[in-house]
Formats: sequence, structure tokens, C-alpha cells
Amino acid sequence: MERSSIFDKILILDFGSQYTQLIARRVRECQIYSEIQPYDFPLKGIKALSPKGIILSGGPSSVYESGAPCCDPQLLRMGIPILGICYGMQLIGNLLGGEVAHSEKREYGKVRLIIDRGGRLFKGIGEKGNSLQVWMSHGDQIRRLPPGFHSVAHSCNTPFAAIEDRRRRIYGLQFHPEVVHTRKGIDLIRNFLFHICNCQHLWNMRSFMEEATGHLRKRIGSGRVICGLSGGVDSTVVALLLHRVIGDRLKCIFVNNGLLRRNEASQVVDLFSRHFNIPLIHVDAEEHFLKRLKGVTDPEEKRKKIGREFIGVFEKEARKIGGVKYLAQGTLYPDVIESISWKGPSATIKSHHNVGGLPEKMRLRLVEPLRELFKDEVRELGRELGLPSEVIHRQPFPGPGLAIRIVGEVNKERLEILRDADEIVMEEMRKNDLLNRVWQCFAVLLPIKTVGVMGDLRTYENVVALRIVESQDGMTADWVKLPHRILEQMANRIINEVKRVNRVVYDISSKPPSTIEWE
Ligand code: XMP
Repeated sequence: MERSSIFDKILILDFGSQYTQLIARRVRECQIYSEIQPYDFPLKGIKALSPKGIILSGGPSSVYESGAPCCDPQLLRMGIPILGICYGMQLIGNLLGGEVAHSEKREYGKVRLIIDRGGRLFKGIGEKGNSLQVWMSHGDQIRRLPPGFHSVAHSCNTPFAAIEDRRRRIYGLQFHPEVVHTRKGIDLIRNFLFHICNCQHLWNMRSFMEEATGHLRKRIGSGRVICGLSGGVDSTVVALLLHRVIGDRLKCIFVNNGLLRRNEASQVVDLFSRHFNIPLIHVDAEEHFLKRLKGVTDPEEKRKKIGREFIGVFEKEARKIGGVKYLAQGTLYPDVIESISWKGPSATIKSHHNVGGLPEKMRLRLVEPLRELFKDEVRELGRELGLPSEVIHRQPFPGPGLAIRIVGEVNKERLEILRDADEIVMEEMRKNDLLNRVWQCFAVLLPIKTVGVMGDLRTYENVVALRIVESQDGMTADWVKLPHRILEQMANRIINEVKRVNRVVYDISSKPPSTIEWE
């Protein structure tokens, strides 16, 4: 998206830290727009973005190793305020003439920081002599400061735990202000944004909407757009946003791919016609999708086949409508971040696209107005656009649908088993007033059978796993410690009411290292 200056921007260069996305989130929580780019993002791009400040993330490498990731050294001479975190600080030390070395004592976990010198970074946080709990994770440290720098804080094992060169407005922290274990970490970030970078123009969904509608108007001109609508908050927000800009030149298409939850198709169509005055085309493509998925067991192949089939349906509908150039989708920032990982696209974990994997060649051009937003921001935008709360609070549902919750081959019989189990999970969560309090709750059908006994008879049937997680944006997640009573009720009902299931297990893995969906 081309930039304008309605709101201030902070650029985050990613050196491979597991916390980079957390930095982006924290900055946005301060209502300042942040964007992650790979560590070698060119100066030209930086100038075009015109950020108010740059944050260099942490990373697993050592700056003195050959091949260690390095930004363009000119970056430090652009006059833009810079904050280096962990590896980012060591890189500043190394590039500006200091010395970085391996430290005998690795610091990991909670550490007490002693402030040596107050100033802008620690404004309102502490004065000389005060201490603060921070979170460290490093094996290297700065041994000698570069010329022009002063120590701002130290810890027992790290003489330079926070440094600054006020004249050049370059700052470094050896610890991680972005993780919750650093007390007042968010205040440190806020001080960098507001007292060092002088950020003023806040990022909120109203300013986003203003900018996004302007860009969409320019990009689409008098063209026609189709929007793949799933009934979830992302695609509905995209549809509303576009409808504001291009009116009836937008056509929404809802595809029943046969991989939906029970009654989902009728619910979506009903909801849409009740609340919005936007034409909706309903395509029933169940047989096509299921035919494509016959015999497919590999998760990536499933996603790609589904993605291709979706595009096939959209292109066919576009031809019927005529003059359609664009396909609008609700791609979000987490999908984008994954594909610009510092290790490059090869580090992609899943072909995460709204509809699964997209084919390389497409006739329609993609319009993805939410690709800079996190899920909670999309929900806020939905509120701005007047979306009813039943849509805003709908749980995310993946484009490839139940296909990635059936481990192994997908067929009608297995889909029915999963739908039955899933319906019970949803009912029990709703009954206990938990449906809107968790990020997602669903059932997964496993490709194994186990022995059981029902009445006096031996059974040999399927296993269902329950996946219930809480999360802020789907990037990290934790399993929900559901009361045993509710888990028991769900399991009993599934085993008694769903034919061909005789065992239920609860997934207690968090993300990372697991993912939310099983495939
Ligand atoms: P994972 O499984 O990667 O999922 O932890 C994170 C979030 O993304 C959803 N998800 C998808 N959403 N198309 C989507 O629109 C997809 O292909 C897709 N795969 C996963 C998942 O439900 C969770 O909320």
C-alpha cells in the first residue's frame, strides 16, 4: 500500500527474534502504526516509508560471526531515532565502533536492572539508583561503548544494559521491553515513541479507514470487484469497506465448499441479507471440492487444492458478471508477517491464505485492504463500520474449513462425524457462556481408531480431539483450562451422541510450538 502521512509510522527491522511480532503489537498498542520488514530492507524503501523511528529487533546470531544479519550501516546516519533491542543494540555497538563479545555468564530470564542515568528513555519509570525487573535472553554483550554513547543502566552481569547517544538519538536495550516480564516495558516503548521519536499522529481504526478508502478508490478506479465472503469478521469488513468506496460495483460471493460447519451456509446467507444491503451470490460447489480432495492426505496439498478450487469458482463467477478485475480477500497481517520472515518465504509454516494456498497464476488481481491489521484491530474496524456484534465476535474459521480438521482423507462420512462432534462443542460452550470468551473452540477428527466397550460389546471406532484456545491475534495461543465438568460433559455427549466415535481427547499444546489448527 502506498504511504501517506495521516499517521506516524515506526519501522521494525527483523533480525530473527521470536519477539519481533510482539514489538509490532506493543507499538500498535501505543496507537502508533508499526511495520515489520526484513533486516536488509533497502534505504530507498525506508525513505519512502518515512518512519518517525526505527526499532532493530533481537535475533539468534552473534554480530561478530561471518554472515551475521546486518542492516545498511547508512541507516544509523539518516537522523531517524533508533532503538536497538538485544541483537539490535549489539549491532549498533558493532557498527559504530564499540566492541561486542561473548559473555562468560549468559543471562536468561528475570534480571534486576539498575538505572545509572535518568533521561528520556526512563522518563517516569525511574531515576539514577532505582531498580527495575527486566527480561534478558543473551549470550553476547557490549564490552566497550562506541564513541558518543553513555551507559544508562546496568545489571549484575551486564555493564551496558541500556545505552544512549542523545545527540544522534540512538538508543539500545540489552533486555526485552516487549515481553510482559519486563516491568514497565510498555512505558519504555512509549517513551521511545513519544519523547524520542516525537510521534503525534495516532493510529486508530478511523485514521486507517480514511487512508484505506482513499487508496482503494485510487487503485480500483471504475473497475469491478468480487469479494469472497465467508461470513467471518475479516471478509465481512472487507466487503463493507469496499462497498463504501465502490457501491454496487462490488459483488460478494459465498461459496459452500462442503467443508463448513453444520448450518453455516444458511446462517451466513441469512445474516448477510438481514444486515447489509449488498448483493450476495451463493454458489454451491460441494461436489467439486469433495471430488478434488478425494485421496488427498497431505495438509499442504489439501490447502493448495482447496485454494485452486476457490479461485476457479471466483473466476467463473467473475466471467458471468463481466468486467471484473479484482478479487478482494480478508488477508491479515499475521499471514503477511509469515511470508516476510527474515529467513525468507521458505520458512512458511502453512500456506496461510484466506482460502488456503493460492495458485501462482490468477486472472484476477488481489485486493487485500486488511493486510496491515491484526485480528483485534479488524474487530475494532468492524465496530467503526457498524458491524453487528454477532459478526464481530464470530470465532475465526479457516478458509479450508473442516478439511484441515480432518487429519487424513476428507470425505462426506468423516465430515458428518466431525460436524456432529463440532456442534456439541459449540453447544456446550454456548450453554456455559464461554463461546465468545475463547479465541476458538472446535473438534478435530483423527485418522486412528481405538478399542472401546459400549454396553457389553467391543467397539473399534474413531477418536475426536478437542481444541479450545485463547489468543489475542492467533499468532500465539494457549489452551484453555476448561473446568473438568464441562470437558466431561462434552466428551460424554460426543461419545454417546456421535455415531462412530468412542474416544475424546483434549489438546493441551500451546502455540508455539504447536499451531492452532492441526493441519
Ligand atoms: P494456526 O493453525 O496457523 O492458525 O495456528 C492461526 C489462525 O489462523 C486460522 N487459519 C486460517 N485462516 N485461512 C484462514 O482464513 C487458512 O488457511 C487458515 N489456516 C489457519 C486458524 O483458524 C487460527 O485462527
